[in-house]
Amino acid sequence: MTARRRLRATELGACISARKHSEVFRVGADRVLKLFRGHVRVDLVERELRTAMRVHAAGIPTPAVDAAIFETDGGRHGLMFEYIEATPLSKLFERHPLHIARYARLFADLHRRVHEFEAVDGLPMQRIELRDRILQSGRMSLGIRQQLLARLDACSESQAPRLCHGNFHPSNVLVHGDRAWVLSLGNACNGDPIADVARTSTILAYADIKSSGLAGWLSTHYSRWRNRLYLARYLDGERKLQLQFDTWLVIQMARRLEDGIAKAESEALEKNILRRLSAGSQSSPSGAA
Ligand SMILES: Nc1ncnc2c1ncn2[C@@H]1O[C@H](COP(=O)(O)OP(=O)(O)OP(=O)(O)O)[C@@H](O)[C@H]1O
Ligand SMILES: [Mg+2]
Repeated sequence: MTARRRLRATELGACISARKHSEVFRVGADRVLKLFRGHVRVDLVERELRTAMRVHAAGIPTPAVDAAIFETDGGRHGLMFEYIEATPLSKLFERHPLHIARYARLFADLHRRVHEFEAVDGLPMQRIELRDRILQSGRMSLGIRQQLLARLDACSESQAPRLCHGNFHPSNVLVHGDRAWVLSLGNACNGDPIADVARTSTILAYADIKSSGLAGWLSTHYSRWRNRLYLARYLDGERKLQLQFDTWLVIQMARRLEDGIAKAESEALEKNILRRLSAGSQSSPSGAA
């Protein structure tokens, strides 16, 4: 049974991030509280805690976490992490676009490091999670879902199950100099690292799609370029990994549709999913776009 600790609102410092599922507050000089919004189930908070503790203990660079679930007066749940004095990689890409190659390398190397970690007891299996997501999808017709499930059944794991992050993207990575830390292990599962790479690639390639204008064109192409550099570093020209990546890609594109993403992004993904299904899905490994 996980320890519970009460926390008064007055103990919280500045809010440094406010997103769909959680807010992050400074607590004193050296800690942050990740306070989940009311809709996040406590068993999911426990899952993030369990994984964060094991991963930190195993030496993967990730903030240390207190072994307890914190409860605020308003009944919300939170996790207390060590504060890392560093910048989210998403911000660095924006601030220093010309450093794209260096940051993409750092990002891919950190992802590889996560995948060196063996499967963690008690985490869900990636394949089962993917199956559930596709089955429950309200966005795709029954026929398309059946085709996707058949594809999923045909995908074989490239190796024994490993720890997969499940949501590895640049805002979940902090960077200071040449050091990098990974955050947000709430979606972690055991599975095929290459399927995890296909998930990251899908997020990267379609991030920032804007409907029109020069700014939209530039950010779309920048995102795709970043994705190619990340894949080139991670897959390192290994033909077998590239083929595995291709087979997972359409599955991860369908799963991405369930993330509540922007309309332009979901329309582009839907088109690509249909194209890949009808073409038999042999595509260039150079990117998800
Ligand atoms: N331990 C930490 N030290 C410093 N900054 C942090 C730390 N944890 C989180 N942050 C800041 O808060 C932001 C959001 O954190 P995090 O990714 O954990 O939450 P989220 O994006 O709301 O949740 P999720 O990624 O699980 O959907 C990070 O991008 C980072 O700027
Ligand atoms: Mg995050």
